[in-house]
Order: sequence, then structure tokens, then C-alpha cells
Amino acid sequence: MIETITSPAAMSARAAAFARAGTRVGFVPTMGALHDGHLDLVRTARAENDVAVVSIFVNPQFGPNEDFTRYPRDLDGDLTKLAPAGCSLVFTTDAASMYPRGFSTYVTNDAWSDRFEGAVRPGHFRGVLTVVAKLFHLVRPTTAYFGQKDAQQALLIRRMVADLDFPLQVRVRPTVREPDGLARSSRNVFLSATGRERGVSLSRGLRAAAARFASGERDANALIAAARAELEATPGVSVDYVALVHADTLEDVAHADARSLMLVAARVDGVRLLDNALLSAPTEAAW
Ligand code: PAJ
Repeated sequence: MIETITSPAAMSARAAAFARAGTRVGFVPTMGALHDGHLDLVRTARAENDVAVVSIFVNPQFGPNEDFTRYPRDLDGDLTKLAPAGCSLVFTTDAASMYPRGFSTYVTNDAWSDRFEGAVRPGHFRGVLTVVAKLFHLVRPTTAYFGQKDAQQALLIRRMVADLDFPLQVRVRPTVREPDGLARSSRNVFLSATGRERGVSLSRGLRAAAARFASGERDANALIAAARAELEATPGVSVDYVALVHADTLEDVAHADARSLMLVAARVDGVRLLDNALLSAPTEAAW
């Protein structure tokens, strides 16, 4: 049976007990609607620590006109999947407990928050960093696990942990995909059968760029064009951005090298999808 904690104070007390006992805590923050991408993080957290703790909280990190209210929620289904993945404790709470009246302190990043996802979704990363900072204080993990699927988020969290001296390790795991290449995402349930097929164009674009890189192409514009061509040839796909950046700094690069990360975001039949890959090693984690 999975233990479920629903109040921040109770979670904090439990974390203090773990700390007193010297228990190594692996932590996976999520918004629920769990799939194999999340479960890979949970299995790794369990394998590398004494316990795996998962938080399930649909954080109001969404901008205006986003899908906060219709974000998929399935707590019972999530709990059923978590036990076999090795999770023994779930922290799930509500916005009123996390952000009581008077809440007014936020974590922001001045360098990386207004590009890519931050440009498309103003305020998004402030919401993410603030909730993850709170969760780190409440859960006090030894190691926290994130997916490369959300590469910009993973980098911002690494940066926050370093900048604000959080006493924990951050591990990033490679993106888990469907057999046809589509990155697993809680939002994939919103795709129609046609949308589902069209969504594969993101990973196909990344593979096309990686193939050009493997055959010697280094010009960023040519590599971006190779990925864009796959997306633009697919009906119903509207590109938000395709960029080639340095994996450690998110700065645009003109000439690709082994650390070049391609970022892709598009709306596919109205559903927003993200993907990214290192062009030199498309199936491996960048960090
Ligand atoms: P959520 O989208 O639920 O994702 C939780 C974690 O699972 C993130 O670290 C994300 O990168 C990872 N993940 C999602 N899809 C994945 C895939 N296909 N392969 C590998 N990992 C994958 O990201 C969030 O929630 C929120 O922003 C959160 C960090 C919980 C803060 O609210």
C-alpha cells in the first residue's frame, strides 16, 4: 500500500523523520496523469535511494488560455501505477494549501525564463521554480529526478539548486518515447488518432536533423531547416519554435557540435507538444 500525504505540514514532518533515520530519499515531482516517462524516473529514484517519493500536484503554473482546468487528472490510476514502480509515498495536495492567502514570494530566473517555453508561456517558469523550491523544502530529497523531455525546465532547476544552495542532487533522464518516436506526455491523451500520427513529426524532425549532423552538416540554419521541413510538411502542425542551442547555456549556436541541443515546440491539432535531442546522441540524456 502506498502511503498518501495530503498536507504540507505532514509532508515536512515525514521528511524530518527520514532525515533523522538517514534515509536516502529519491524524489519525482509530477502533475499526475502518469505515463512511462514519469515511471522511469520513479524506478530510477527507487533504485538509487532507500525510498522513492512522488508528488502529484497540478500546479497553477499555466498561463492565460492554457489547459489548467482540463489538464488530465487520475489519482486512483496514478496510485495503481506507482506501487509497482517502487514508490512508497505520494504527496498530493491542493493549491489552497500550497498558496494560502497572502502568498507572495516567488523564485525567478533572470537569464533563461523568457526564451522558448518562457516566451510562449509568460510566467510559466516562475510558477515551476516556485513550486519545485517549495516541494524541495517539504520533501528534502537526497536526489531529485527530472526528464530531458522538458529540457529548459531541467536546466532551470539545476541552476536554481546551484544558485540557492539546495542540498540535493539533480538527475536528468532521457526522454521516454512511444515505439514510433512520439515523446510520452500527459497531453498526448488530447490528440485524436490523426493528431497522434501528426505528432510524430516532432521526433521525425529531430531525427532528420540528427541524420544531417551525422553526415557532416554543421550549419545551424541548415539543421534547423531539416527539422522544420518535417514539421511544415505535416498538415495540422503549427510550429512555435525550432532552435539549436548549447545544451549547457541555451544560447543559440551558429555551428553545431557534440553539445548542440535541438529544441522543437509545435501545436498539433491544437495540442501543444515539445521535444528535443542532442544532435550527436539523439537517444541519450544531455546531462
Ligand atoms: P510533469 O509534466 O508531470 O512532468 C514530471 C516529470 O516527468 C518532469 O521532470 C518531466 O520532464 C518528466 N517527463 C515527462 N514526460 C517525460 C518523458 N516522455 N520522458 C521522460 N521524462 C518525462 O514537469 C512537470 O510535471 C511540472 O512542471 C513540475 C516539475 C511537476 C512542477 O509543477
